[in-house]
Amino acid sequence: MKITMKKRFQIGVCLLGLVFLAACDSTQPTQPPQATASGPVPTEFQTGETTFNANCSACHGKQAAGTDHGPPLVHKVYEPNHHGDQAFQRAAANGVNAHHWQFGNMPKIDAVKPDDVDQIVKYVRWLQRQAGIQ
Ligand code: HEC
Repeated sequence: MKITMKKRFQIGVCLLGLVFLAACDSTQPTQPPQATASGPVPTEFQTGETTFNANCSACHGKQAAGTDHGPPLVHKVYEPNHHGDQAFQRAAANGVNAHHWQFGNMPKIDAVKPDDVDQIVKYVRWLQRQAGIQ
């Protein structure tokens, strides 16, 4: 079969199209890993979420992602091996002297009882797992 100018033109356009497609593909931004949990909070952690939002999120941020007043708890520093569940109980009951960060001290949080902190810990551990920290 004779390759006419027209065919050549068509093949050229096709190739060009492919190159463009490839170029577009490679410039697609890659999604950064999700730092915070997306999607609904499972029912079993919702009590913890409510208590956390009422007492802790002013400093530790929504979904424990941190603010200008306090560090993120979804952070390697607070993984279960570094800061076990007792560290949360102690923090709430006694407050925390600044030692890891530059935010100042954490006051004790009288409004939460040990049972509330248990719920908060479950919620924060869930957030941590979502972020790949465990
Ligand atoms: C007024 C701000 C503020 C509030 C409210 C607050 N925190 Fe904190 N929290 C801090 C700061 C600041 C630190 C970091 C201290 C450091 O290590 O430098 C901290 C540290 C912690 C730590 C780490 C303790 C350790 O042993 O290092 C835990 C756990 C914690 N907070 C839990 C909570 C929980 C749970 C609540 C809610 C019941 C809460 N925080 C409410 C400011 C706050």
